[in-house]
Amino acid sequence: MQLITLIPGDGIGPEITKAVTDIFAAAEVPVQWEEQNAGQTTFDASGELIPQALLDSLEKNRVGLKGPITTPVGKGFRSINVTLRQKYNLYQNVRPSKTTPGIASRYADSGIDLVLFRENTEGLYSGLEMYDEHNGIADSIARNTVVGARRICRAAFAYAAKHGRKKVTMAHKANILKVAGKVMLDAAQEAAREFPQIQYEEKIIDNMCMQLVIRPEQFDVIVTTNLFGDILSDLCAGLVGGLGVVAGANIGDDMAIFEAVHGSAPDIAGQGKANPTALLRSALMMLHHIGEHAKADQIEKALHLTLLDKSKCTGDLGGSASTSEFTQAIIGNLGK
Ligand SMILES: NC(=O)c1ccc[n+]([C@@H]2O[C@H](COP(=O)([O-])OP(=O)(O)OC[C@H]3O[C@@H](n4cnc5c(N)ncnc54)[C@H](O)[C@@H]3O)[C@@H](O)[C@H]2O)c1
Repeated sequence: MQLITLIPGDGIGPEITKAVTDIFAAAEVPVQWEEQNAGQTTFDASGELIPQALLDSLEKNRVGLKGPITTPVGKGFRSINVTLRQKYNLYQNVRPSKTTPGIASRYADSGIDLVLFRENTEGLYSGLEMYDEHNGIADSIARNTVVGARRICRAAFAYAAKHGRKKVTMAHKANILKVAGKVMLDAAQEAAREFPQIQYEEKIIDNMCMQLVIRPEQFDVIVTTNLFGDILSDLCAGLVGGLGVVAGANIGDDMAIFEAVHGSAPDIAGQGKANPTALLRSALMMLHHIGEHAKADQIEKALHLTLLDKSKCTGDLGGSASTSEFTQAIIGNLGK
């Protein structure tokens, strides 16, 4: 029985987390949850945003599933997501985007099936920021290290090779960012030489955005820097139905945290309207990560069957079912 740290989060987090744990229980997935929270709810109760007990649990179990977290607005609060990614070197942010029958999007007939690898710990999110108040000069430094660039590029190619993918696209701006951009480009070219069976191409980020909107089905695996990846991953989610339906994972060499990429949706929290698909899909990535492929496939099939019946789907998917009705419908489809 694999122990998993479960972080329900804030807002709709507990509702969508319950949906996932109910589905896993019904499917008899051999995992045991160790619940530890973080975020606004925890802060209100204990004055701590990230309790030590949560960190201890992650360090012991090395695998976590995280609901969305509200970071209190104001000075002195660092994003919990950024903190965990940097503390545990979760350098790969992996986001698959795939068109799914039953999920409406402008590109529903395009057959999009791409996976974005975003560098998750460096670049413009390194936290190297200064403000010279006297002269009115603001600096945010994009620091890419050779080690950091190599490991994310290699991870993208290794994923492509392992999963029978054909092509890796490096999205960059090395024509202007001659130093930080070039480090990434060099690392991608090096990885491409190591995996000659994978086609490799480079696209400047502005053209990349246009190409993704015009002909997204041409892309397979994409690798890019932290900031570009942050933006591109939401763009890619928008191609296949939005943030409510896409999975996300933060992966390092010895720890991984899987998470819904949408926020805590305070506008619908506690109303039974939340769609658990994004967190469920993240949990399925987690099952593949721990080697439970058959259980992941079984639950994915049940999810896909449910998505085809609008009457069983939540409001954001065009239905009128509650979170628990949607969950029960997935459970009802588990044996089919
Ligand atoms: N990964 C994270 O933990 C994460 C990510 C983004 C935002 N946040 C936090 O979430 C809070 C709210 O942010 P926001 O309002 O900008 O974004 P949001 O993603 O919470 O909500 C945007 C809109 O999408 C809807 N929505 C989001 N997820 C949904 C779901 N699963 N089912 C149905 N509808 C859903 C919401 O109702 C809302 O109308 C903020 O405190 C922010 O800091 C956390």
